[in-house]
Amino acid sequence: FLSAHASSDSFLRCLSGSIPSQLLFTQTSPSFGSILASSVRNPRFLTPATVRPLCIVTVTNASHVQAAVVCGRTHGVRLRVRSGGHDYEGLSYRSARADAPPFAVVDLARLRSVRVTRGSPATAWVDSGAQLGELYYAIGKVSDRLAFPGGLCPTVGVGGHFSGGGFGMLLRRHGLAADQVVDALLVDAEGRLLDRNTMGQDIFWAMRGGGGGSFGIVLSWRVNLVAVPPKVTAFNVKKTVQEGAVDIVAKWQEVAPALPDDLLVRVIAQGQDANFQALYLGSCDALLPVMRSRLPELGVDRTHCKEMTWLQSVPFIYLGSGATVEDILKRNLSGDARFSKATSDYVRQAISRNVWADIFRNWLAKPNAGLMILEPYGGRIAGVSDSATPFPHRSGVLYNIQYMNFWGSAGEEAGRTGWVRDVLAFMAPHVSKNPRAAYVNYRDLDLGQNVVVSGGAGGNVTSFEAGRVWGEKYYKGNFRRLAMAKAQIDPSDYFRSEQSIPPIGNQL
Ligand code: FDA
Repeated sequence: FLSAHASSDSFLRCLSGSIPSQLLFTQTSPSFGSILASSVRNPRFLTPATVRPLCIVTVTNASHVQAAVVCGRTHGVRLRVRSGGHDYEGLSYRSARADAPPFAVVDLARLRSVRVTRGSPATAWVDSGAQLGELYYAIGKVSDRLAFPGGLCPTVGVGGHFSGGGFGMLLRRHGLAADQVVDALLVDAEGRLLDRNTMGQDIFWAMRGGGGGSFGIVLSWRVNLVAVPPKVTAFNVKKTVQEGAVDIVAKWQEVAPALPDDLLVRVIAQGQDANFQALYLGSCDALLPVMRSRLPELGVDRTHCKEMTWLQSVPFIYLGSGATVEDILKRNLSGDARFSKATSDYVRQAISRNVWADIFRNWLAKPNAGLMILEPYGGRIAGVSDSATPFPHRSGVLYNIQYMNFWGSAGEEAGRTGWVRDVLAFMAPHVSKNPRAAYVNYRDLDLGQNVVVSGGAGGNVTSFEAGRVWGEKYYKGNFRRLAMAKAQIDPSDYFRSEQSIPPIGNQL
């Protein structure tokens, strides 16, 4: 168990025995504030009321991470781990509870190398602190026929993203980022450095989609790269409600998940517009007949097609047509660090046209309204069994909905977050049920938070029963297996947060 007597001073003394002082930032260090803020994406969690870490350790190698774990265990200080800092609830650097005991942050931002190896299959070792844009850039520079199926935003960190699954424009052809992981280096709660063989198959299963911050600190991932043609085609087509957006979205629900796997057409519904954003792994000539026969109402023609390499499609889709491939290497993107709140749903049966009309008329038209992003599934993501990884949203899912709202100043928070909560409540009859499912990488603490109970021998652990409330939404039947894996690798529940996996089996 964790030492019962937390001692911040002895913890810091212990750290300074193994970690160079220039990598250690306590609350009194002049640059503590800027290091803390360096990858915070959501200013909601950077206010005077935010519960901050005792210190931040900007590790540069595995031994620093091991030392932080050993010192933390010995002196009763828990760790949070941060890779890209994009967690929607800021759990990688803050505690949501005002009465939280002191904790430290292990920041992996300086562990960001990417090593691509050609071969069959081509692979890459990528460190957790690398951003998705750095991974994509390194791959695209080696070959225009290689790619990786991860998320759209280039500043998202590999560590949190792969831990929770990770999907983007290649999901229908190549599945999740976590589906491509073939090895990893993990520091566990004993401070041991483990790889796929030494961690064992249960832990290797759990860490590929079971969410970050539960099983240890992943330093590096070995992934298979995927094949793409040297030219892909992207398009953006916007339809207003007056131009028939309601009918097209209603039809899209069943068309998009059944399109050829090489084609993904997603929808961003905002205000009175539906923006259809697509990536096709092939030429415009081959794409047009598919769109004309499957969704002619969208009116896609040659003027909409933009042919480019897969690497060029990354900035084109996320940043717009003026962006360059070098832009995806930036550490901060304009608009990235806005106040925001998000949550998610899964749809298994198409929602009726009338409900979509209502959504546009009554929800997206409100003055405080946010947006809805609809990501179609089907194809490869559905071709993997629900239990092959912890990510259970596979066969039978038509699409994922992400509800998001952004705002510019703290005073708007109540109205903006209220819209997200109200639209989520409104959607209940129309989306997945028993459980109502959600995606862990779109973390939402409104779905439930952990409760700590006695674990025997004077220690305490996170309650499995209480955890089921949020855990079965993210993982369905896989939640129990995740709790068993947690009991194997971290039985005393050292790596713990408001939504970490509880260890099952040793609870009183
Ligand atoms: P961060 O560092 O905040 O970590 C997230 C969680 O993982 C925390 O609990 C943290 O403790 C833990 N963790 C981090 N590193 C770890 C490590 N090395 N070992 C163990 N645990 C670790 N998702 C998606 O699937 N597709 C998409 O297109 C997008 N797009 C997107 C855009 C924007 C602007 C944001 C803010 C978010 C997304 N996401 C997304 C969601 C994203 O995948 C999710 O927030 C990831 O967890 C972020 O990973 P980071 O490493 O950046 O976060």
